[in-house]
Amino acid sequence: MQKDSKLSRRHFFQVGAGAAGAVVAGSSAAYACLEATAAQPLGPFFPRPDTPIEEVREDDSPQTPLHLANDNDLTYVKGRDGKAQGQVVYIDGTLHDADCQPVPAATLIIWQAAASGRYNHNGDAQNQDFRHPVTGATIHRTHDPHFQYWGRATTDAKGNYSFKTVVPGFYPANLARHWYRPPHIHMLVMATGLPQFVTQMYFSGEQLVDNDFVQELNTQDFLLQNPRMTEAQRQKLIVACTPDDQRQGDLAGRFDITLT
Ligand SMILES: [Fe+2]
Repeated sequence: MQKDSKLSRRHFFQVGAGAAGAVVAGSSAAYACLEATAAQPLGPFFPRPDTPIEEVREDDSPQTPLHLANDNDLTYVKGRDGKAQGQVVYIDGTLHDADCQPVPAATLIIWQAAASGRYNHNGDAQNQDFRHPVTGATIHRTHDPHFQYWGRATTDAKGNYSFKTVVPGFYPANLARHWYRPPHIHMLVMATGLPQFVTQMYFSGEQLVDNDFVQELNTQDFLLQNPRMTEAQRQKLIVACTPDDQRQGDLAGRFDITLT
């Protein structure tokens, strides 16, 4: 019931704004907020105290919870000499509420596997070595001490946020079911006056390492292919990443989020 009224409110907004001439036809930015971002499961590897293989805490104040202790650049750890392995990618986006208004001062937390497909979490102990389902090559899901694994960003006055990270590796979720999680980033959104929101974003783009395989994994993933999502909601979770000249050619993609 609630979802239906939400949808009709969005539809009304779209029609109303169009009729008023406030939205330029074909402006994807203007329409980007109209589709609610689909929720996805939190998963078992959220950074909680005593769960990391090796604690990464750039802010060592004991008052700061572990999941809030790191910044929005996951490609290195402050105080350590080295860079994370993997393809660097910038994820930028705008956070909107259900009325398409930007949400400032919201806290976004991301957590993800390293480029090897391993989380910094003691619970991620199964299948540390596994065979690539296509090539048969052995993949070692090794811990990367130079990767930050989780980070936080705060939206600015216009609801914008930015992260710099690496493309996570894929990993086996359930080998008996031949289920491999595609590269994905978990995200938790906390905004004053709104319920906490959890989702996952996925990747596409010709410049991604092994993109054809990644897209195959996307089409076979039980979470991304949840039949309760509309196709538009599914596509909104898949971020097209392309080289960005203004960032030395590193990959960049937009992940806009609309809360319900
Ligand atoms: Fe995951």
